[in-house]
Amino acid sequence: MDYKRRLEQRYPFFDYKDFYDFVAAKNFNTHVEVGCWLGYSTVYLAKRVSHLYAVDLWTLTSSRQAFDADFIDLQLIIGDEIFKTFKENLKINQVKNVTPLRCMSDRAAELFTSVDFVFIDADHSYNAVKKDIAAWLPKTKMLAGHDYNHLSVKRAVDEIGEPKTMGNVWYYEDCDSLRNEELKSDT
Ligand SMILES: C[S@@+](CC[C@H](N)C(=O)[O-])C[C@H]1O[C@@H](n2cnc3c(N)ncnc32)[C@H](O)[C@@H]1O
Repeated sequence: MDYKRRLEQRYPFFDYKDFYDFVAAKNFNTHVEVGCWLGYSTVYLAKRVSHLYAVDLWTLTSSRQAFDADFIDLQLIIGDEIFKTFKENLKINQVKNVTPLRCMSDRAAELFTSVDFVFIDADHSYNAVKKDIAAWLPKTKMLAGHDYNHLSVKRAVDEIGEPKTMGNVWYYEDCDSLRNEELKSDT
């Protein structure tokens, strides 16, 4: 079986169409997806919004410990093929409103002063999710992410408030209020 088929069958990460429909209905201007992999979630959201920034390393990442040996083998074998496949998937689906930012999530956050929506589905370790939240929370109106059923993710996400959930997605719809609460508790 070719590597693409193996990847698609073994790692069908994208299971949050309902959530992306919910976000698209808000008619935000600036959307950021952190953690795009082969681009299935990216294509779905991009087809429903005006523009999407796609942030990923598309290479071996610090999240590799979270996956099994087969995943690591595949990444080593295919190297840059992940990014090529991502771009191919955009092309096949005639998606032209995506700007890929090939860098670490926190570096990407430095490029923005304010955005409307950020979705985090990158490195799922506690420290990484904390870092992603710290990078994006000061900049976004709405913050969300995948895999709330991972204990490491849940712990990091619950530390900033009480998120709403939809399936396995966590989200904070009003980050302005969250930031104000944080400020109050600091003083
Ligand atoms: C679970 S996959 C994303 C799946 C995708 N959202 C989907 O539904 O198909 C996680 C992705 O996060 C990326 N990643 C991990 N840590 C990252 C970081 N610190 N900055 C940017 N991307 C990262 C990995 O390269 C990988 O492609």
